Amino acid sequence: MRRRLAAGNWKMNGTSADLEQITALMAAHPAPTVDLLLCPPATLIHAAARRVADHPMMLGGQDCHAEPSGAHTGDISAEQLADAGARAVILGHSERRQGHAEQNAQVCAKARAAQDAGLMTVICLGESLDQREAQTTLEVIGAQLADSVPDTATADTLVIAYEPIWAIGTGRIPTPDQIAEVHDFIRARLQQRFGADMGSAVRLLYGGSVKPDNAATVFAVSNVDGALVGGASLTADQFSPIITAL
Ligand code: G3H
Repeated sequence: MRRRLAAGNWKMNGTSADLEQITALMAAHPAPTVDLLLCPPATLIHAAARRVADHPMMLGGQDCHAEPSGAHTGDISAEQLADAGARAVILGHSERRQGHAEQNAQVCAKARAAQDAGLMTVICLGESLDQREAQTTLEVIGAQLADSVPDTATADTLVIAYEPIWAIGTGRIPTPDQIAEVHDFIRARLQQRFGADMGSAVRLLYGGSVKPDNAATVFAVSNVDGALVGGASLTADQFSPIITAL
């Protein structure tokens, strides 16, 4: 039985005043029956970790470098994230793949480093609108999955997030059938590659315009074990009903 996971990605939003949203979220969910992960900007992880000390909510980074340390100005290593209080990291988000030209091999190297540092990795996959319209979605997702996920991944360290690029921040969301097609495909590929036990245990999140009013519909889809939420994770008012729907 896979434990459900609600993950929030604040992206490049939030200053210390917004830590109050984390406090409000914990107050609304004092004993959650699902896993909670919040990924604020790296500048807030340490302070956020102090707030969540007595609560099961996990904190995560939004990216990490593949090396543990060195001359990489502006980058953050997996060890540094863990030291700040993170227990997870998002990798291969389309905003990193597009805005920073990240390739699958880099995502894979980062994932290996993060898993070695004891972090759970949320590896993001997703097709563009052009790719969907050209009916190459499963081909694109299959290649990203094969090349971004390290062979050393385990069911505890690996979470996959399917995020169609055209659904991110647009208010446009795939139909339940479209989500099911991709999630069932990812599940089958994971089972082929890692065996039935592990392939069945990895959690698959859907991401892209998940809001309080569509969360229940998304969560009812086959092989959807939770969500990676962007905009609606910024405030407890919006994120809380999504968690409740899970
Ligand atoms: O990481 C989160 C996703 O990019 C979804 O963002 O919920 O604002 O569409 P969104």
